[in-house]
Amino acid sequence: MRDDVERILLHEQTIFSRLDELAARLTADYEGKELTVVAVLNGSLMFMADLLRRIPLPLRIDCLSVSSYHGGTESSGTVTFDQHSLPDIDGRHVLIIDDILDTGRTLDAICTKLRSECRPLSVKSCVLLTKKKSRAAAIEADYFGFEIGDEFVIGYGLDYAERYRNLPFVGVLKASVPGK
Ligand code: IMP
Ligand code: MG
Repeated sequence: MRDDVERILLHEQTIFSRLDELAARLTADYEGKELTVVAVLNGSLMFMADLLRRIPLPLRIDCLSVSSYHGGTESSGTVTFDQHSLPDIDGRHVLIIDDILDTGRTLDAICTKLRSECRPLSVKSCVLLTKKKSRAAAIEADYFGFEIGDEFVIGYGLDYAERYRNLPFVGVLKASVPGK
């Protein structure tokens, strides 16, 4: 796996230091509020687990699964919700957690759907990474860990064709990887 990485962008310790800062902000912002965190599977798993263990609030955790990539490195443009029931967030403050904001279509589709169908008190978003680029959907994350360039990254939850999620760092995939 390591041989397929062109270069490491964010080492584990760099990620962890940033998570400490993010968690402190979120703890202050959601203190005293009924918070439900909605994690977008599968990419946000590592980020969610490490971030939430730094937030000492009585929050709830729910998960959502959507598809937009279908295996490649370019978003297909359509976002499909993979499950039949949406999280029970009626009257709750919601923080959506995702791995990366790219075109913005995924986060936009999720925010719109939860706001229109689930009656939350508020919906905000928190991503580990945000790509510096113009987006297809006019949305920015309320909280983010790092801003990166417009390149395809893997590791710490992020995949290419479902591989590399368990790398402990975020890195750039080599252009020579088969199928890329
Ligand atoms: P968006 O809908 O284009 O913003 O894409 C969001 C989703 O695409 C993320 O949740 C990721 O699953 C995936 N994605 C976007 N960019 C990357 C990347 O560089 N590496 C791995 N997955 C990515
Ligand atoms: Mg994802």
